[in-house]
Amino acid sequence: MADLASVDYFSDPAIAQDPYEYLDYLRSRNPVFREPHYGVVAVTGYREAIEVFRNQEDFSAAVSIGGPFPPLPFEPEGDDIGDQIEAHRQQFRISEHMVTMDPPHHTRTRGLLNRLLTPKRLKENEEFMWDQADRQLDEFLDTGCCEFLSEYAKPFATLVIADLLGVPDGDRDEFRARLAGQTTPGSIEGTMYQDAPGTNPLEWLDDTFGGYIADRRANPRNDILGVLASTMYPDGSEPSVIEVVRPATFLFAAGQETVTKLLSAAVQVLADKPEYQRILRADRGLITPFIEESLRFESPTKVDFRLARKRTTLGGVDIPAGTVVMLCINAANRDPRKFDDPDRFRLDRRNAREHIAFGRGIHTCAGAPLARVEGQVTLNRLLDRVTDIAIDEAAHGPADDRTYHYEPTFLLRGLRELNITFASA
Ligand code: HEM
Repeated sequence: MADLASVDYFSDPAIAQDPYEYLDYLRSRNPVFREPHYGVVAVTGYREAIEVFRNQEDFSAAVSIGGPFPPLPFEPEGDDIGDQIEAHRQQFRISEHMVTMDPPHHTRTRGLLNRLLTPKRLKENEEFMWDQADRQLDEFLDTGCCEFLSEYAKPFATLVIADLLGVPDGDRDEFRARLAGQTTPGSIEGTMYQDAPGTNPLEWLDDTFGGYIADRRANPRNDILGVLASTMYPDGSEPSVIEVVRPATFLFAAGQETVTKLLSAAVQVLADKPEYQRILRADRGLITPFIEESLRFESPTKVDFRLARKRTTLGGVDIPAGTVVMLCINAANRDPRKFDDPDRFRLDRRNAREHIAFGRGIHTCAGAPLARVEGQVTLNRLLDRVTDIAIDEAAHGPADDRTYHYEPTFLLRGLRELNITFASA
């Protein structure tokens, strides 16, 4: 790779394809290191990233998705910009969604979601997953090959969330179609942080769910959407329709692309290293650590951002208020101070589950249990129903010279396509 010191992480196409060498370089300079293009402080150390995730006093989540894009809506003044952040809240990207909120708003909104994600609901959703995995596989099993993302992972992830939220059966095909062609967040192609007007599927989702909730409030029903419609804040007050809709629709934004990337990363390893098919078949209990190692090895959310609310220090580095801090999740998950031999996929890794692919602290991924089960169901069903899973060499080249294309985005890590072949079991 050329001159790592001058690389622009946010727009360099080669870095988007393979970020690891660059992230290692940053860590070798310092696990907390200011990159030169936007003044963003990149945190590539495991311990340091957790420190920031857990410290919501000094770090605000207002920029969690956009990072330095667009630039701050104000000029930071002094050593505490808490009041400035609050005065400009609405100007941050997706400020209406919980991932950018700080307490106390975050606490209230996350509380609404927690009332939906009950153990009972998650159990029912898991039953749906087993059936849906079969239905998805039935669509292409006879052909002996598939493009795994478009034919399995994306529709599977979409329909699992639709089921979780109780989307009526008759509407699910439209969800699948509408959400199939979403642009990936953080794309380095074209505009980096704007959706073209009218193309943001979250707007369509807000309208559709707004309709469901308003209907259930007018005509109470005892279905999942009915439960959602009658959810109250812990203090007994009733949220507005849009306050209920947003945590629900955000699940599609948070849980589709990420799960697609997890599933395709896991299946890529399975197909590339066929010995794992034998090992996992012999002991299905190993699917759990296999998924954890997949999450560590190719963490679907590459980076997450925070905004320093107060002047502080991190890893001995001065962090002035107003600094955008980039938590490099997939670098932290390959920090050699935490994970031995970090660039190797190892099923026997004892501490794989300590990865931070789902973040840490108050914003820890609300869908982590769901994503893990989606991975387990998918691998189990694949191993049940097909044998000899292999990378399609016509698409990706021979074993000693593979070509894989990754989504060109600074936010997420995942394949664009994964073509595999198999035989019916
Ligand atoms: C492998 C799949 C997934 C990965 C890697 C992932 C990763 C993450 C990460 C890193 C965060 C923390 C963001 C931050 O601290 O700024 C997060 C938050 C979140 N995730 Fe996930 N996620 C996945 C799947 C899902 C699924 C399936 C759902 C729901 C159906 C979901 C819902 C959420 C929500 C609602 C938040 C915001 C939580 C909050 O702000 O309190 N995620 N996710």
